[in-house]
Amino acid sequence: MLKRLQQKWNVSGWSFILILCTFAVTGTFTAWVSKEITNWFDAEKFSFLWWFLKILILLVGYQLFILFFGFCFGQFQFFWNFEKKLLTRLGIMKKESNNRIAIFASGKGSNAERIIQFFKNDQTISVDLIVCNKPGAGVLQIAAQEGIETILITKDAFLNGSLLTDLQQRNIDLIVLAGFLWKLPENLVRAYPNRIINIHPALLPKFGGKGMYGSYVHEAVLANHEEESGITIHYVDEVYDNGDIILQKRFTINENDTPETLASRIHELEHAHYAPTIKAILQKQNQR
Ligand code: GRF
Repeated sequence: MLKRLQQKWNVSGWSFILILCTFAVTGTFTAWVSKEITNWFDAEKFSFLWWFLKILILLVGYQLFILFFGFCFGQFQFFWNFEKKLLTRLGIMKKESNNRIAIFASGKGSNAERIIQFFKNDQTISVDLIVCNKPGAGVLQIAAQEGIETILITKDAFLNGSLLTDLQQRNIDLIVLAGFLWKLPENLVRAYPNRIINIHPALLPKFGGKGMYGSYVHEAVLANHEEESGITIHYVDEVYDNGDIILQKRFTINENDTPETLASRIHELEHAHYAPTIKAILQKQNQR
């Protein structure tokens, strides 16, 4: 039984012994304190005051004592994690986000904005970082308004691999490209397998690749007399617009459609589907 407990807590042998010592000392100390305090208040056994003091000491005092003794035995982090879980369950503390997103965007940032709003009150997913390569891009303003950290990246810093360190330092779990045109360096793609996604304003594999962005895509779609267009959300690999497709949404092109109307119909689809797809991906990853 003890072995199972140790596995559940995922601690080494020594830590396990020290944790058990902390529980034992805290239990004994709490019992002693509660006896002393009820005596000091002269509370008659089983009276209202007696129950009140006992419950107060057990509920509040115990939690504080366990942190103190946990600290003395060098196990503060273990007990602090324990307390955080309790406080979150009681609704006293906000759950710490355990899925951190970095959005790479260099344009207007309408998708980034939707994603930020979508996860604003999410208890487990947060947008923690915006990476942008264009000074003055609209997305930087959105990030500033929302108080989200930004990295304005130069081509050199982008290619020399230091961005990976920036992402790892911030414990980023998922990289979301939303209008970011530079091809990602290999070290980044390799470090985040199936954890980088992109949204493309056409139905891949058609109308993808280098140079296929913004109105170039819609012009090409119309010039090719396509019957449909739409969006593709896909994983990112070393090749432009090539990774496995996660989701596609399509619509029929009308004879009155122009590159501008296509752009706005596509934006509508993007805004409706990108954030929920991100959530589904993270939830699936968490289940693994
Ligand atoms: C989107 O249309 C997306 O498909 C493409 O870049 C555009 C970004 O638009 N990858 P916005 O900056 O989010 O408005």
